[in-house]
Amino acid sequence: VCRGLSSSAVRNVAIKHLTVIGGGQMGAGIAQVAASTGHSVTLVDTNGEILKKAVKGIEGNLKRVAKKKFSDKPESGEEFIQKALQNVSTSTDAAAVVQGSDLVVEAIVENLKVKQDIFSGLDKLAPAHTIFASNTSSLSITDIASSTSRLDRFAGLHFFNPVPVMKLVEVIGTSATSQETLDCLLNFSKVLGKTPVSCKDTPGFIVNRLLLPYIIEAIRMYERGHGSKEDIDIAMKLGCGYPMGPLELADYVGLDTMKFIMDYWSAANPENPSFAQSESLNKLVAEGKFGKKTGEGFYKYK
Ligand code: CAA
Ligand code: NAD
Repeated sequence: VCRGLSSSAVRNVAIKHLTVIGGGQMGAGIAQVAASTGHSVTLVDTNGEILKKAVKGIEGNLKRVAKKKFSDKPESGEEFIQKALQNVSTSTDAAAVVQGSDLVVEAIVENLKVKQDIFSGLDKLAPAHTIFASNTSSLSITDIASSTSRLDRFAGLHFFNPVPVMKLVEVIGTSATSQETLDCLLNFSKVLGKTPVSCKDTPGFIVNRLLLPYIIEAIRMYERGHGSKEDIDIAMKLGCGYPMGPLELADYVGLDTMKFIMDYWSAANPENPSFAQSESLNKLVAEGKFGKKTGEGFYKYK
């Protein structure tokens, strides 16, 4: 994948094996896409039950993809599913599996300290050539990377939900990320069938810096009683052609993740009203209503 690179440890790295840390909605999606494009993937989560659920979800989503991609050749579709599933293994111990990895993609909870702890531990165990990448939505890549000694081989690799469907990957470089690392990740994204864009390490990169204030403003509009949640969502779907309305999308992203992002940004920019606390978001999160993944958020899901 990354042949022809000119310098240091990443030279000649072809990403064949990756470790994906976090078996939630994003980690499972990243594992699925990597496995179905011929990479061997180890999916890691601290919770074995979540890993079982993730593999089941991957199988179900591969069936959806196969049905569409091989509509006239069901046997090829079955072969595609089996090949991809064979490429996925799971583990509850990242330290035990990172040795053989060319790339580690982290997709765990949106918390700086937890991400730093994971990476600082793995930094001592992973081979020198291994690239570390975070799928963080909002945290500074520079801050996460500072827990390691591989600053040149550390970047952001930001996928979008649902990963098998959304075509974009943001590749985020810090001032210390090497060009070889960035080229490698840009190429890797293309091999996954995605379109990468290059981003600076600024809060929210490109998409979330625009998307999150929009969603939060929609939540505030609902709090002010300026529209029902249904009307706000219908308005943005039919008025702007968006596939989901903003409240529906907040539920889809996860209200816990939304709150982690807003809390982090409001602490860093207390004077910016775009990032001020939202009462209804705080209440739903306090009640454990994280959106689609827990069955209830602004809306109820079966
Ligand atoms: N795996 C594989 N395929 C999937 C899938 C999955 N998890 N989810 C949906 N699909 C496929 C379906 O099979 C279907 O394919 P066909 O049209 O070929 O049959 C297609 O995607 C559409 O799915 P559905 O018919 O089930 O539903 P839909 O038309 O309502 O689309 C959606 C669902 C793709 C999620 C669409 O509503 C959408 O694009 N929503 C907006 C998503 C979005 O904005 N994501 C970004 C969130 S922000 C983010 O991710 C960044 C962050 O850091 C927070
Ligand atoms: P999620 O809650 O679905 O999954 C997180 C998973 O991480 C859970 O399964 C949890 O058990 C696991 N985990 C927590 N700590 C761990 C540890 N120390 N080691 C191993 N596993 C651990 O969350 P998600 O929506 O998949 O988001 C994951 C990351 O991706 C976050 O940083 C989030 O900001 C980012 N992200 C989310 C979206 C989205 O739309 N949800 C989109 C892009 C990026």
